[in-house]
Amino acid sequence: MKISLPTTSPLCHTDFTFGVATAAFQIEGAAEGRLECIWDKFCATPDKIKDGSDAIVACDHFNLWQNDIDLITSLKVDAYRFSISWARVIKLDGSLNPQGVDFYIQLLDTLETKKIKAYVTLYHWDLPQHLEDKGGWLNRATAYHFRDYVALITQALGQRVYSYATLNEPFCSAYLGYEVGTHAPGLASKNFGKKAAHHLLLAHGLAMQVLSENSPTTQNGIVLNISPYCGKTDSDEDKAAAYLADQHFNQWYLMPLLKGCYPNIIDTLPDSEKPDVFKGDMQIIAQKLDYLGINYYTREVVRADEEEGFTKEQDKVLPLTDMGWEIYPQGLSEVLVELDKRYNLPPVLITENGAAMPDIYANGQVNDLDRVEYIQRHLEAVHNAVNQGVDVQGYFAWSLMDNFEWAEGYAKRFGIVHVDYATQKRTIKQSGVAFRDFIDARHSGIRLTKHPNV
Ligand code: GCO
Repeated sequence: MKISLPTTSPLCHTDFTFGVATAAFQIEGAAEGRLECIWDKFCATPDKIKDGSDAIVACDHFNLWQNDIDLITSLKVDAYRFSISWARVIKLDGSLNPQGVDFYIQLLDTLETKKIKAYVTLYHWDLPQHLEDKGGWLNRATAYHFRDYVALITQALGQRVYSYATLNEPFCSAYLGYEVGTHAPGLASKNFGKKAAHHLLLAHGLAMQVLSENSPTTQNGIVLNISPYCGKTDSDEDKAAAYLADQHFNQWYLMPLLKGCYPNIIDTLPDSEKPDVFKGDMQIIAQKLDYLGINYYTREVVRADEEEGFTKEQDKVLPLTDMGWEIYPQGLSEVLVELDKRYNLPPVLITENGAAMPDIYANGQVNDLDRVEYIQRHLEAVHNAVNQGVDVQGYFAWSLMDNFEWAEGYAKRFGIVHVDYATQKRTIKQSGVAFRDFIDARHSGIRLTKHPNV
């Protein structure tokens, strides 16, 4: 089974970037070489991670990074998106940890020799625990600590990076981490979510200011996770519920970044839930973005709820991935077209897209045709959005390899490469082969077969 698009597709031009993505905490391991972060503590807390696991070893990428770069190179991608562990590169006193920095410098230098562009995420959820002990993202000072870390690390990395993302999915850090507590640090209060979100957005803005000083030639932006919210029925109540959910979960991030203000629902929040917005904050947050990264996995269906305004429908529409997430590729085109109309978006990168599937490893292979199909249909969705005028410039598969899937532990596998955690052996899945062949055909200008559905 192949991945293919019409040869005339803008995605088949070699200036469209294809990559694979990972995040530090999910793959690196070597926890002993860095400070404790909020996810270490969360993993050590009973009943937080479904399979009781932690990421002390994970994919042991810290030791196997050279093999992993060879693997990435063999996939023929243009780019590799990974994150820097703040807890690895900064010491307790706020100064750089040279060993940690060296790890990333070697990685970046090797990527350079392979002509793979480095897309570096500066924060993918792994706040140093000592900062959490002082309030974490509920403490405004954390935004300034983030700025200082960004100033030091970007100086240290110099010219080696192609693109920076300040934050990955601030919604997850704020909402999952501080409002519902299913992610680290595991706090759960409606009074916390929007406060944490504001400090994260402020941290982004402060970091963008640093980047424009220290790293003006890189592509600098932020990565948001966006899901379309649809009403369970066509009733006005369910439509209103979908509108409200979209305001809370999508627009709450997009609007400050792209328009410099929060959605009007801010006025309806009880005072206890309102973020502490200081004079000048919104200008700091709304820095010009070189690109907007969008992570897309699924859509959410909601229905009206008297108390909360909306509630997520638990009864999912088939087909589902192994995460129980509805496979809804058309949502990706819809969201891109709709947001572009609304905001006149900067260039967009699909910084994550992929699926956990019930993979079976047999005879040294994973025949994950369901994942091939998932990628195929989402690439078609990107193609459709580009054809409708949205300036999408790249697509990154989540993930390079199976890894520590946060609260799900190792049970959910998102990789296009299989990892045997007992031996750390990597095996390229059929989806990895299909993705590679698609990218490679584009490079070598081979005529790609027209896909019947496009
Ligand atoms: C995210 C994170 C990834 C996850 C992936 C699957 O987008 O949530 O960036 O770290 O592993 O999304 O849940």
